[in-house]
Amino acid sequence: MDKRNYVSYLLVTAVALLFWTCAPKYSYRVKSFLFDGVPNPYEVKVSVITDSILKEDSISSKNSLAKKIARNEFNLHEPYRERKCATCHDRNNMGKPKMSIIALCAQCHDDFSQEYEVLHGPVATGNCTICHNPHQSKLNSLLQQDGQELCFKCHDANFTESSTIHKDIKDTNCTECHNPHGGNNNFNLQTESCYQCHDNFKKEYKFLHGPVASSDCSQCHTSHNAGTPKLLVEQGDKLCYQCHNILDVKRNEHHQKIAQSSCLSCHNPHGEKNHNLLNKQIVN
Ligand code: HEC
Ligand code: HEC
Ligand code: HEC
Ligand code: HEC
Ligand code: HEC
Ligand code: HEC
Ligand code: HEC
Ligand code: HEC
Ligand code: HEC
Repeated sequence: MDKRNYVSYLLVTAVALLFWTCAPKYSYRVKSFLFDGVPNPYEVKVSVITDSILKEDSISSKNSLAKKIARNEFNLHEPYRERKCATCHDRNNMGKPKMSIIALCAQCHDDFSQEYEVLHGPVATGNCTICHNPHQSKLNSLLQQDGQELCFKCHDANFTESSTIHKDIKDTNCTECHNPHGGNNNFNLQTESCYQCHDNFKKEYKFLHGPVASSDCSQCHTSHNAGTPKLLVEQGDKLCYQCHNILDVKRNEHHQKIAQSSCLSCHNPHGEKNHNLLNKQIVN
């Protein structure tokens, strides 16, 4: 090969190399033309290694994300699994969400403001990611922590240590009773939360006491810990006078001896066979 030919050969190769390296699509075509089996970079799904939980992992390591997913250790958030990174991130600034968290999630989810009258504190302020990982989690519902831990990040854990606590609450998930997002009452109570473990009295009694019929157990019972017998919010007749007018009650001839006996000695607080909720001793 003479000198001039050698120089033009070099030039042609250099230009070809430039094309190869500069434009990935073009490069792919050239490479697959030359060597079979080169993967199409536009079709292959490359594992994500920049990740909040798995920063230390790499594609080649034994603990690769792909393997963890295959072992079902992680639940992936659908848009993350489908690699729709751009719905939440600006392509030039991947480390940050591209808008406020609440707006981010509201692209696809309810922000709960239509669904509930009262929003839970962190939901009202749009802090969805305090409880949910936006990418993935080993826990259900993409949660950041398990069970009570999730709530004790902000709420006092002391009450579960008390000796007068409602039995079983120590080991009960808070969300058995509280909706984590909101509700139509101040405590975001799940509807009928008490009936998971207690009778609703409907089968037991023909007549239900007003607040029992409307599932307002909390009008008379605290739910975590009262430090009082039967978790009652008030003791003795005071409990009943929260709702019943003392003068009206005293006007009834059957109540002449009330001073000596408590309301509960004649009435069942939950329900009875008769509409006056009179217990067996009184009726017979
Ligand atoms: C549903 C929205 C959403 C999707 C989809 C999403 N992200 Fe994120 N990502 C977030 C949010 C929110 C944060 C901020 C988390 C924080 O600050 O606690 C974040 C943080 C990050 C960070 C920086 C923090 C870290 O974990 O290292 C990287 C990098 C990242 N995302 C990459 C990606 C990639 C790559 C994809 C696509 C495979 C993706 N994200 C898809 C919402 C999303
Ligand atoms: C691009 C649309 C999209 C965005 C944006 C999005 N999600 Fe999702 N999310 C989904 C889809 C789709 C599902 C799966 C729905 C299903 O299974 O019913 C899902 C499921 C979930 C689940 C339930 C997961 C499970 O395992 O049950 C949670 C929790 C969740 N998303 C929270 C969030 C939060 C928090 C944000 C904001 C940071 C967010 N999502 C943003 C589309 C999105
Ligand atoms: C205080 C913690 C907390 C906050 C804040 C929170 N969530 Fe949740 N979220 C939960 C828990 C706990 C569950 C699981 C509920 C269950 O299993 O009953 C859940 C479940 C979900 C689900 C699955 C479907 C469902 O409704 O059960 C979606 C979607 C979701 N959350 C979206 C959001 C969005 C969007 C925000 C912000 C507006 C948000 N969450 C804020 C704790 C939270
Ligand atoms: C990021 C902090 C945070 C986390 C995590 C959190 N909460 Fe809250 N919670 C709040 C704030 C703030 C309020 C509003 C307090 C207020 O309005 O006085 C609140 C209010 C409540 C209320 C109503 C109290 C009232 O007096 O009306 C209940 C019930 C509640 N949270 C239960 C839970 C449960 C159950 C969890 C776990 C699933 C949880 N919280 C997790 C911050 C948090
Ligand atoms: C058996 C159902 C039940 C469980 C389980 C439960 N709660 Fe409650 N919680 C209630 C009810 C009902 C109220 C309303 C006030 C009352 O009746 O005592 C309440 C009130 C609250 C309040 C507002 C009043 C206060 O005491 O500060 C917070 C905060 C709260 N709960 C957090 C939690 C947390 C955190 C957990 C989990 C460790 C939890 N709850 C478990 C039923 C429950
Ligand atoms: C996770 C199950 C569970 C849930 C949910 C639950 N309880 Fe209980 N509760 C118990 C157990 C267990 C006992 C103890 C029963 C016993 O000692 O016979 C108990 C006892 C009680 C007692 C009697 C306390 C005493 O000192 O004798 C009252 C009152 C009570 N619960 C009210 C409620 C109310 C109101 C709710 C709804 C806010 C509720 N419970 C939800 C499990 C639960
Ligand atoms: C009007 C007030 C009131 C309402 C509403 C109420 N309770 Fe009670 N409950 C009481 C009183 C008072 C006692 C104590 C009875 C006794 O000492 O004989 C009690 C006792 C209990 C006990 C202890 C076991 C027993 O029968 O002595 C349980 C469990 C209980 N209530 C559950 C509930 C549930 C669940 C609800 C909601 C469906 C509810 N209560 C609604 C007043 C009420
Ligand atoms: C949270 C409010 C509330 C509390 C506390 C309460 N009650 Fe009631 N009570 C009602 C309502 C509401 C009715 C139904 C009134 C109606 O249907 O006209 C009712 C009805 C009754 C009735 C039947 C009256 C009738 O004509 O059917 C009796 C008896 C009664 N209550 C006794 C008691 C006793 C005893 C206590 C205390 C252990 C008590 N109540 C505590 C709200 C309450
Ligand atoms: C000695 C038994 C006895 C005691 C104690 C008692 N009651 Fe009664 N109560 C009755 C009888 C009997 C009736 C049915 C009256 C009738 O048929 O007119 C009744 C009826 C009622 C009624 C429905 C009729 C009305 O007058 O409104 C209410 C409400 C009531 N009681 C509340 C109470 C309260 C609150 C207490 C405690 C402060 C109480 N009772 C204590 C026997 C008693």
